[in-house]
Amino acid sequence: MSKAFTQEELLRELEQVVEGELNRHEKVAREWFPHDYIPWSDGRNFDGLMGGEPWSESDSDISDVARSALIVNLLTEDNLPSYHHEIAIIFGREAAWGEWVHRWTAEEGRHGIAMRDYMMVKRLVDPVALERFRMRHMGEGYQSAHSADLVRSLAYVSFQELATRVSHRNTGKFTDDPMADQLLGRIAADENLHMIFYRNLLNAALQIAPDQTMRAITDVVKTFEMPGTGIPGFQRKAVEMAVAGIYDIRQHRDDVVAPVLRFWKVFEIEGLSEQGEQARTELAGLMEDLEKQALRFEDKRDMLKARMAPR
Ligand SMILES: [Fe+2]
Ligand SMILES: [Fe+2]
Repeated sequence: MSKAFTQEELLRELEQVVEGELNRHEKVAREWFPHDYIPWSDGRNFDGLMGGEPWSESDSDISDVARSALIVNLLTEDNLPSYHHEIAIIFGREAAWGEWVHRWTAEEGRHGIAMRDYMMVKRLVDPVALERFRMRHMGEGYQSAHSADLVRSLAYVSFQELATRVSHRNTGKFTDDPMADQLLGRIAADENLHMIFYRNLLNAALQIAPDQTMRAITDVVKTFEMPGTGIPGFQRKAVEMAVAGIYDIRQHRDDVVAPVLRFWKVFEIEGLSEQGEQARTELAGLMEDLEKQALRFEDKRDMLKARMAPR
């Protein structure tokens, strides 16, 4: 096997790449303001201190699935302090790594702010239930399955940022609300830049430590879970979102995992050791498994839709 790098060695080896990527990111990331995306005059006071009207489901005609998706996406953004903690531990606060950690955190913070403002002004969700969900979700914190390993963490966030982009984008479309779609599209564009940053970084790791990185990619694809898995009622909401086509296993395979693997050219890289080859063979098997799961899911969804269709 090619030289196994320690975490410290990899952090040092990648330092220059982080700096380059950070400069590139700062050039392409467009400044935007949450308040621009909120139709403030559509808002009304709630009951309680302000003596307004309590929230009611009839305040908006958003579908249940769109509401669930908005809640999942917002709570996922809300858990930022835990994510910050995880990446700050792995990446550290030194030089370019630290600069990225803080920049990324500030950008992510904007997402939760903007989404919450929008959802409150438009009365899309019950504010009391939402706050209780947030307290429970954040109370549990978030611990990455890969927190002890830099390369695995980079592989995970490459997929996860892209998955979040897909989820925000499709949620926006699914709301049938052009203003929500506009906001979620704006957030999704940020997530895409985050994905590019991590994807490029992992690509550099693949050049430096190909066998180690191949193993990391395989392990991450094998165990991938969205960060919102701990949200109360997540499983049910995730199924609803999958059936609606907001985030399903087909999209996960074809629109998230496959394009990133293609970018890394994982199936073309030459000169892997036996261990590297083993990891790659396993990865190819995982992609086939995902394909089978996606086909099964599509069959089931078709059946469900046929059953629910008006006769
Ligand atoms: Fe975000
Ligand atoms: Fe992001």
